[in-house]
Amino acid sequence: DWIMGDYISEAVAKIKAQVGDEEVILGLSGGVDSSVAAALIHRAIGDQLTCVFVDHGLLRLNEGDMVMDMFAGRLHANVIRVDATEQFMGKLAGVSDPEAKRKIIGAEFVEVFKAEAAKLKASGKGHQGATFLAQGTIYPDVIESGGAKSKKAVTIKSHHNVGGLPEQLGLKLLEPLRDLFKDEVRELGVALGLPRDMVYRHPFPGPGLGVRILGEVKRDFALLLQRADAIFIEELRNTVDEKTGKTWYDLTSQAFTVFLPVKSVGVMGDGRTYDYVVALRAVVTSDFMTAHWAELPYSLLGKVSNRIINEVRGINRVVYDISGKPPATIEWE
Ligand code: XMP
Repeated sequence: DWIMGDYISEAVAKIKAQVGDEEVILGLSGGVDSSVAAALIHRAIGDQLTCVFVDHGLLRLNEGDMVMDMFAGRLHANVIRVDATEQFMGKLAGVSDPEAKRKIIGAEFVEVFKAEAAKLKASGKGHQGATFLAQGTIYPDVIESGGAKSKKAVTIKSHHNVGGLPEQLGLKLLEPLRDLFKDEVRELGVALGLPRDMVYRHPFPGPGLGVRILGEVKRDFALLLQRADAIFIEELRNTVDEKTGKTWYDLTSQAFTVFLPVKSVGVMGDGRTYDYVVALRAVVTSDFMTAHWAELPYSLLGKVSNRIINEVRGINRVVYDISGKPPATIEWE
């Protein structure tokens, strides 16, 4: 609509004025905020923006290809895709503590990003390489990081995975979404031509499947989990609730699958199986501070369970998590 159109023109003018003829790099994660920031900055300065997309091997199924199709394919933005799966897996080997895993993934992300920024500079693209680092910081992030310092709260989970990156890289910050709430970021994303499906997605944690594979992260576990999770999400998107006319994906705030490194006995055809378990998690919440487990229809749960067990060899049992937050958290780690 025209209000958003005006907003975009103003934001574009501001970015152009701030950046001038310098260059910008941005870490694209596939999440809503970095995607909308990238689309907006690309609208403003085109080729002066380079996006770096780090694939740690712990993303959703086909996520990497979807990000590339969208940004490189459709928007024609400069995107460097870094497949750092082996590097991340190597660092995570033997580590099972959730916070230790978060720290490793966060630190490794910074390393990969720094290496890409250095390569970009050495390649002589532009005059001096990037001088700006763009981030998809939104207004609630601004408040949260100010508040956290004064409150001295107990850290349940360390969420801020890439803190301190601009200082380490010696770059100026470009944060065009700093004044916006999440809803506004989504509207902006749609107005910039990003697909609704992408803009209205459930949140996905920075460490990704790294905190959805309980204990030690293994490549094989990640591959099983990606396929099981894709089935769950597909069925949520395809099942419409008759009362509201909405899909169960839209009726839940966050839904995903958790890999449990536990084997149990099953039977398939004439044979005995001894395979892994996954848990389905779906919650309804307005602020993610407290949450209710979603009352998904039994028929939906049954279909997802059947499909996962039949289609994903290596998983023979599916359970549904009926814990609220508190006392449980949304993620299992
Ligand atoms: P919990 O599990 O604490 O999650 O109830 C609340 C919300 O935060 C997300 N979450 C994370 N996001 N890095 C992130 O970027 C993290 O390490 C992390 N841990 C949890 C979680 O997905 C939920 O939306």
